[in-house]
Amino acid sequence: MITTLRDLHSAIDTLREDFLSDASLDSSGKWELYLGKKGRFNELTQALKTLLPENRKDAGKLLNELKAWLNEQLPKSTDKKEREGDDRDPTVPGLDLGVGHLHPVTHAMHEITQIFERIGFTRVRYPEVDGDYYVFEALNMPKNHPARDEWETFFVDVPIDKKVGKIVLSTHTSNGQVREMERLGSTPPIRMINIARVYRRQSDVTHTPMFHQFEGLVIDTDINIQHLKGTIDHFAREFYGPGARSRIRPFHFMFTEPSFEVDFSCTICDGTGKLSNGEKCKFCKSGWHEVGGAGMVHPNVLRAGGIDPNVYSGFAFGWGIERTYTLRPGLHIDDIRMLYNGDLRLLEQF
Ligand code: DAH
Repeated sequence: MITTLRDLHSAIDTLREDFLSDASLDSSGKWELYLGKKGRFNELTQALKTLLPENRKDAGKLLNELKAWLNEQLPKSTDKKEREGDDRDPTVPGLDLGVGHLHPVTHAMHEITQIFERIGFTRVRYPEVDGDYYVFEALNMPKNHPARDEWETFFVDVPIDKKVGKIVLSTHTSNGQVREMERLGSTPPIRMINIARVYRRQSDVTHTPMFHQFEGLVIDTDINIQHLKGTIDHFAREFYGPGARSRIRPFHFMFTEPSFEVDFSCTICDGTGKLSNGEKCKFCKSGWHEVGGAGMVHPNVLRAGGIDPNVYSGFAFGWGIERTYTLRPGLHIDDIRMLYNGDLRLLEQF
């Protein structure tokens, strides 16, 4: 350890001798060894800490001289910048920083939100882990009703909640309907768009155990089926393009009366079922794709939300985002599970 000026003098002498006698290194190696960040000169400057304070000024002077000497000894080309330039080729392309982007489903969610917000809907979110009450019972599906079987439900292994019953992973975004009526103090008008993840015990080319849905709910005085159809048509045109059309077919849901299934015209054959060469369109069922359900809100559901069905009426619809999205022109995703296996070869195409 260097504690006196004499120690420092002799350490400097040794360094100079070593420098002059060291023939094994070329000048850039020498630069590194003596003047580099972890080089011997910097090591010596540590002595400033161990010397008595009154000697530090002299020591500083000695070290400055040594540095000037070392710089003189080393030819100009060993100057740091030039040295680094030696082995660098500025024409080699830089490293790809791999900037990511939003997942296509997230994009679709943003777009869907905007389409509905522009016509006065408010985006809301409700729990994905919810009680039996909001997922089924308030939607006119009493306990043990066979209609519940359609939603292959995941039950959460926790005690039954006093208010909302058994805890489940929400099987659809319809759980937001009565919650939204309650949030607004059972006072229409209501124009909600609820987007969330939903869960069902299913997995095949058109189903994943987790997927996304968007749920529309409109309640006001004098709401009728034309409002529902107009809203769906508007969405079809905005999301699929000006030529897109929708159709509704009678169906049955417990929480709507009447109920419908909703189809959109095929974007490949323009709803005709036939390609321009006369062949049958393989993408759709004779010109149409089924996307989800809709209907006029059942009076019992309005009552569950504290709304008088004699004064107000409403419509609702609920569709899968993945399904709605993969029907877009130009997208040929025939296995919906591909959206979630994280394969960059697919995701990078968006
Ligand atoms: N919740 C239904 C499902 O997941 C879809 C649905 C049907 C939603 C009719 C609605 C509706 O709002 O009115 O299968």
